[in-house]
Amino acid sequence: MDVDSHSIERAARRLLRGVPVAMPTETVYGLAADATCEASVARVYRIKGRPSTNPLIVHVSSIEMARSCVGAWPARAQRLAEAFWPGPLTLVLPRGDRISTLATAGGETVAVRMPDHPVALALIERAGVPVVAPSANRSGTVSPTTAAHVREAFDAREVVVLDGGACREGIESTVVSLVHEVTTILRPGVIGRVQIEKALGERVHEAHTIAHTRQVQMSPGQLARHYAPQAPARLVDPSACVEVIEDAVVLAREGAWTGWRVIRMPNDAAAYARRLYAALHEADALHPSQILIERPPEDDEPLWRAIADRLRRACTSEG
Ligand code: TXA
Ligand code: MG
Repeated sequence: MDVDSHSIERAARRLLRGVPVAMPTETVYGLAADATCEASVARVYRIKGRPSTNPLIVHVSSIEMARSCVGAWPARAQRLAEAFWPGPLTLVLPRGDRISTLATAGGETVAVRMPDHPVALALIERAGVPVVAPSANRSGTVSPTTAAHVREAFDAREVVVLDGGACREGIESTVVSLVHEVTTILRPGVIGRVQIEKALGERVHEAHTIAHTRQVQMSPGQLARHYAPQAPARLVDPSACVEVIEDAVVLAREGAWTGWRVIRMPNDAAAYARRLYAALHEADALHPSQILIERPPEDDEPLWRAIADRLRRACTSEG
């Protein structure tokens, strides 16, 4: 672990006094606050500039703690937790009384996950309470995968930062709803539908998340525009490299783009996911007129699908 137990102890004490703590997880950095305390949760919404209609994920350090946050723990939840926790899978379940109503945006459900990172687990364990942890960025902007990204976004006086190095996965957890009879993936992520179906032994539905209708209400974070860099971003084909625009930045994968404003991206899905948000942060820092992103391969691999989902949101100008 890159963070010593003394720093975790101090961070846990400050968290319990209401100071948000940016903690590394295996996906992205999260902005942690006591999920049982309205005032602490309110502060996280405020400093992120997050609409209070968009609920937060509650992070736990054990299955037992997860069960203390929910109103029901169906057999499906137990199976998925045993198969994938600690790990990048979030379960949406009926809410428990213990959780701040702000954290659930006043709704009847709560999202819970056990992150697979020793620093996050130690912080939650030390604090002794479940913690909300939205991605540690300002609402609507690119998620942070390093402590430096978090420090760029927030004033050091308002957030404690635990530096656990770069995040291993690089994109946010898969969000799965167990609220209705049909298990439904609300946000694609590292863990794909087939893996979840294998663990459950039943069919799983995938919500089409870029939607303006029902889905937005089911998971308000799935608004079309999200994870977006400051410069307008556009998906392009590799063959489009002839029409490169002078002050654009390109996230290249296969195309023969040349120039100093070309950021080369890996061709392997896991490496691409790990690199994506850092590359968008770097692109933004060059203040380009626009960011051209080479289209990801049309591949059934869950990670490419999750990447395609994030890229579509980074590129849409709606919402
Ligand atoms: O990997 C992750 O999940 C990261 C790390 C830090 O754990 N966290 C994260 O949190 O991505 P955030 O707040 O950026 O995204 C939470 C997503 C949003 O899309 C939100 O709408 C959805 O989860 N969500 C939270 N509670 C929900 C609920 N009760 N029902 C449906 N969707 C919910
Ligand atoms: Mg986020």
